[in-house]
Amino acid sequence: MKTLILGIETSCDETAAAVVSRSADGHGELLSNVVLSQLKEHAPFGGVVPEIAARAHVTHLDRLIAQAMREAQVPFDQLSAVAATAGPGLLGGLIVGLMAGKAIAMAHDIPFLAINHLEGHALTPRLLGDCEFPYLLLLISGGHTQFQMVSGVGHYKRLGTTIDDALGEAFDKTAKLLGLGYPGGPRVEAYAKRGNAKRFNFPRPLKGRDDCNFSFSGLKTAVRETVYSMGELTDADVADVCASFELAVAETLEDRLKRAFAAFRLAHPDAISPALVVAGGVAANARLRQVFETSAAHHGFVLAVPPFHLCTDNAAMIAWAGAERLALGHSDDISFAARPRWPLDTVSATVYGSGRLGAKA
Ligand code: KG4
Ligand code: ZN
Repeated sequence: MKTLILGIETSCDETAAAVVSRSADGHGELLSNVVLSQLKEHAPFGGVVPEIAARAHVTHLDRLIAQAMREAQVPFDQLSAVAATAGPGLLGGLIVGLMAGKAIAMAHDIPFLAINHLEGHALTPRLLGDCEFPYLLLLISGGHTQFQMVSGVGHYKRLGTTIDDALGEAFDKTAKLLGLGYPGGPRVEAYAKRGNAKRFNFPRPLKGRDDCNFSFSGLKTAVRETVYSMGELTDADVADVCASFELAVAETLEDRLKRAFAAFRLAHPDAISPALVVAGGVAANARLRQVFETSAAHHGFVLAVPPFHLCTDNAAMIAWAGAERLALGHSDDISFAARPRWPLDTVSATVYGSGRLGAKA
């Protein structure tokens, strides 16, 4: 039997609603996918402002849900379940999406699913086609930078994470420092294309270290000190800083990937051509994509990067995670509360920011 799931995403600065279907054999179909970016609202502040985000979700969510249902041509009474992001993310936004999802589920007497946003990213490749478990996930966004070993729905093992800044944040801060505006990633990439990547020898944080963690605060500091020491920057200087920064990131990722591939192989020695799935906004970067491509091929992995609109935050991934969980017989109580912090792997130790490795679960 086919299930039809409405997904709702409001964890950060995208308000999104989508409808997916899942057939009994696990085949997924995307029926609608509506995303409203709040970029314009946050741009003057150089980053996401939680209160502005929550208010924007309240303003737009109802209309976006109606649009997603209309485009999918699915009446509410044919829905099998409603899935909404319950965390991690900004509390105000999460509450908006959760309440809307719960209300629809209650009104139509159908199951409600509280979804972990990271699980949405992790399972997206299975919506798009065959992606057998187990696989390796590299999630690189504005808020997260982590490797997860995905062994099944609900079975995640974190292999590494950032001990300070997220990678997207490092791109955004570099852009801000250079006066390029927000969001910084695409602008840094555009400048980097015409710069000299060898001009500045920025650090490759944690390169050679025997784990799968990341750190970007030292790189950020090195970029800042270089820029401050140069005084007035020409356009060519900006391009050289961007190119040198991007090269440092590329070489760091290459090194960290090597560790993650090895850790994955150790856990799954029999996996034949497992997938490396890369998700999050930074996956859009063409220079870094080259690294994923060559590293994956070199280590016997198959690269799977969802198309950009499904790599960045969206509700299709939330609907799909809901569909996968529903198929396994899961549903959540209507009292499920928002969880601003909600690690995908609840067993591995929490890693605190500011370069400190914590040990609390
Ligand atoms: O997944 P995403 O859309 O949203 C959240 O983080 O929630 O990721 C956004 C991040 C931003 O930090 C942005 O600067 C970065 O992804 N990004 C890029 C590129 N496009 C977006 N970073 C590097 N190169 C890009 N082309
Ligand atoms: Zn995300």
